[in-house]
Amino acid sequence: MNKSELVNLILGERSHVLPKNVSGGAFAPTNIALCKYWGKRNQELNLPLTPSFSISLGSKGATAQLALIENSADEIILNGSVVDTRSSFSKRLIEFLDLFRRANKLRLQICIHSNIPIAAGLASSACGFASIVMALDELFDWNLSPKELSILARLGSGSASRSIWPGFVEWHKGERADGMDSYGESFAEEWPELCIGLLVVNNQEKSVSSREAMQRTVMTSALFSAWPAKVNQDMEIIKQAIISRDFALLGKTAESNATTMHATMLSAWPPINYSVPETLLGMQETWRLRQQGLSVYFTQDAGPNLKLLFLEKDKNEILSHFPNVEIVQPFK
Ligand code: PMV
Repeated sequence: MNKSELVNLILGERSHVLPKNVSGGAFAPTNIALCKYWGKRNQELNLPLTPSFSISLGSKGATAQLALIENSADEIILNGSVVDTRSSFSKRLIEFLDLFRRANKLRLQICIHSNIPIAAGLASSACGFASIVMALDELFDWNLSPKELSILARLGSGSASRSIWPGFVEWHKGERADGMDSYGESFAEEWPELCIGLLVVNNQEKSVSSREAMQRTVMTSALFSAWPAKVNQDMEIIKQAIISRDFALLGKTAESNATTMHATMLSAWPPINYSVPETLLGMQETWRLRQQGLSVYFTQDAGPNLKLLFLEKDKNEILSHFPNVEIVQPFK
């Protein structure tokens, strides 16, 4: 099955219907994985080898506005600036939109506003694709379920399947070849005291895409064979830690999940390293503070930036050690 066939399966008759509205808009939060998605069982459909678990970052994310235009080409505007439609960013976006408008040659003005750094390992593609799918749903008036929105967002970027929901989200890996059972679902627990600190050390675009890095890791890392078992174990521990509000257990498991993922990448060939010196300084500071009794942990994705995990009561202390950190309380 390819992407177009899966879109047809979900939209059915609706794939031939013209937009009901002249515009559609939606916001999707970015999400940070506490148990990472790393490795695909199907490249075309972004089907993962393992499940994963994330937290959505409240009002941090992307807003997509789609409007029908009379032009002969699409117009893409990112954070207020027109983007060259020949850029790799535009090509990826247009290719994704084309999945949904094969029958009708609609041209769109696509305005995306993101309040997080683009492509710096802060899951900008996740909230970008999720917001586009939700905006398309509004434009065409498809009335898709969150599960269907999640599956469609996944075709743009795997982690986008989790950005359909606020709060904690589990992405079921699924077993089916068509991926209809691989989608994000809300994990209905709230933890108002939970804080995420965004420690942006570098907001340059990453040099190796997560798609390429995942594939290379799966193909060449001797450590990758240990990854699926680690994920299955961490998934259960993280859910239990959330239910029992055991912050130290949650933090430890999330941090160790991230460091294990990065170890599989470093052992790939050619090696993949997303850290810069400031990333390591941030890690060392986190470990030092923990030794002094402060309950703080980090996680890291496909970029140099760290996300700190801590509780509200330690906010001021965290700020005194990391003055540039941006704090998000996803449940407040
Ligand atoms: O969704 P992608 O293809 O950008 O991959 C995301 C990979 C990580 O951010 C490193 C992990 C995750 O689960 O979000």
